[in-house]
Amino acid sequence: MGKFYITTPIYYPSDNLHIGHAYTTVAADALARYHRLIGDETYFLTGTDAHRQKIQRKAEAQGKKPQEYVDQIVAGIKELWRRLAISNDDFIRTTEPRHERGVQEIFRRLYEQGDIYKSEYEGWYCTPCESFWLDRQLVEGKCPDCGRPVERVREESYFFRLSKYADRLLAHIEANPEFIQPVSRKNEMINNFLRPGLEDLCVSRTTFDWGIKVPFDPKHVVYVWLDALSNYITALGYPEETELFRRFWPADVHLVGKEIVRFHTIIWPILLMALGLPLPKRVFGHGWLILEGGKMSKSKGNVVDPLVLIDRYGLDAVRYYLLRELPFGADGYYTEEALILRINTDLATDLGNLLHRTVSMIEKFAGGVIPAPGPYGPLEQEIQQTAAESIAAMAGHMDRLELSDALAAVFRLVGRTNKYIDEAAPWRLAKEPGDRERLGTVLYTMAEVLRIVAIALTPFLVETPGKIWHQLGLDGDPARAWQERHWGGLPPGTRVRKGEPIFPRIEIKPTAEKEGPPVEAAPPSPKAAEPAPAAEIGIEEFARIDLRVAKVLAAERIEGAKKLLRLTVSLGGQERQIVAGIAEHYDPATLVGREIVVVANLRPAKLRGILSEGMLLAASNDAGELALVVPERPIGEGSKVR
Ligand code: MSP
Repeated sequence: MGKFYITTPIYYPSDNLHIGHAYTTVAADALARYHRLIGDETYFLTGTDAHRQKIQRKAEAQGKKPQEYVDQIVAGIKELWRRLAISNDDFIRTTEPRHERGVQEIFRRLYEQGDIYKSEYEGWYCTPCESFWLDRQLVEGKCPDCGRPVERVREESYFFRLSKYADRLLAHIEANPEFIQPVSRKNEMINNFLRPGLEDLCVSRTTFDWGIKVPFDPKHVVYVWLDALSNYITALGYPEETELFRRFWPADVHLVGKEIVRFHTIIWPILLMALGLPLPKRVFGHGWLILEGGKMSKSKGNVVDPLVLIDRYGLDAVRYYLLRELPFGADGYYTEEALILRINTDLATDLGNLLHRTVSMIEKFAGGVIPAPGPYGPLEQEIQQTAAESIAAMAGHMDRLELSDALAAVFRLVGRTNKYIDEAAPWRLAKEPGDRERLGTVLYTMAEVLRIVAIALTPFLVETPGKIWHQLGLDGDPARAWQERHWGGLPPGTRVRKGEPIFPRIEIKPTAEKEGPPVEAAPPSPKAAEPAPAAEIGIEEFARIDLRVAKVLAAERIEGAKKLLRLTVSLGGQERQIVAGIAEHYDPATLVGREIVVVANLRPAKLRGILSEGMLLAASNDAGELALVVPERPIGEGSKVR
């Protein structure tokens, strides 16, 4: 049995947290749950980082003491984590005496050994980022990280000798490719910060008093990042050599947003080196969840409150979306439409139906009792192999922190099994008394897949695995069943317990269909009612969209959906089915043989229950007119549009 220590950043309690913060914490939670599942002794830490100038200013503006102000926000943060079922083992606040004592001791040690010295700082300070900058680092006179104005600061300060350790750090980063991930962030740290050379870091301030006092010079408060980063060890009891500290340090993963990788891979490791402590094994900088109108912020009014989403869609749906939607490491757009699509396709249709079909058929064809399997045929052997491969793939992805891929691996098994049910057609077997044994094999196979899926989902979802387990008639906790993930663990003779659908489909308002051609329509987002101009993107983001010329091979209306057409298109050797909302503008017969433009790498989605494997491009205006985007002259199916 191994050990696993994972941390989130400690959040600023300056405002209520939003879906972006929830993203980091849910991801860390899934990793912690995974490690507990596989039997690692796991410690999961989160908390809050209070000593921020902005907090002091905000509190004063409300006529409150900073402590009083943060107490109220921290209560909200704890409630949010409770509602998201975050399984943290500890919650550290930088205002707690255990942390203050630890930071003061760290400061004293570094001073006594000569790594901290007193001098005078003159330079720039970005208060929102709590970052010091040199003239040469500013971009057009602004903070190079956030682009906001910086303040000129000149004060007596203590300095930490970063420069002394720069070579050692570079050597460590180069010798330990796992240390900074993803690799793009590692290169950024090396090229932008380490190679140009490190300056000593100012680690105290004298112009305000909200912070931890320098123990031997109390008019100074400790620089907030030195204070905050230390939480990862003070929470374990440092500087005491506690049992917890010995057991869990160094951290296995510091999970952080990409904007604070710099603090975690330069200042933090050097601080640890100076203290003679081992460095964390991995710092993983994930991407941002971006909203319409750019980065989420109170001032833009585009903040999404996770509690609203939980109330509306349920806890597991929100967790699933957060963990599945973005490739971990990359940025991605948050939209409520995408969240609904995930619920309806993956959770309601794929997983929900698999459970519903399985339990219903066991009720109907086997008197509600899971039959014993007879001899397995080639189809079942393939399912068993897919099950073993999916679980192995899921575990491999979790080890590499690829959460979205890990979930996708589990859902490959779900998808394959739904197809298997259609192939094995148990309803046909049920009609032939001679096929009784075969029917038993098929029903057992379906239920056994679900048992394994329930175990594999426990790191990600907190209510669903237990519900699946219950409906299969099993007792106990799937989160403790990792050892039983192999085929054959389901005892025949178990009585199933039919229940409610685990993920009801989210009904989409019928008016939404008039939205036009592209994708499934969606209800209005809660907070971003006015469509904001699309955020600026770089060419590399645009290049991720695979636009192709496609030839329409067939087009037909869809019964019961007066706005939709089902098109069969060819992308140069590859046929696709596309559902498009253009039926009120085009007669299907006129489309056949024409070249159109489609997004070829759009994730397939079901519209009105019909699979759509791409999206065509069309322009529409306020008068409700619509025109297809087509090549100006025939150019050949499969041609790339760029
Ligand atoms: N207090 C510092 C961290 C100190 S760690 C020793 C801080 N706090 S913060 O409240 O601003 O939260 C930062 C973290 O929240 C980010 O690093 C990131 O993990 C998460 N996120 C905040 N907004 C986010 C998105 N829009 N998208 C994804 N993650 C986001 O920085």
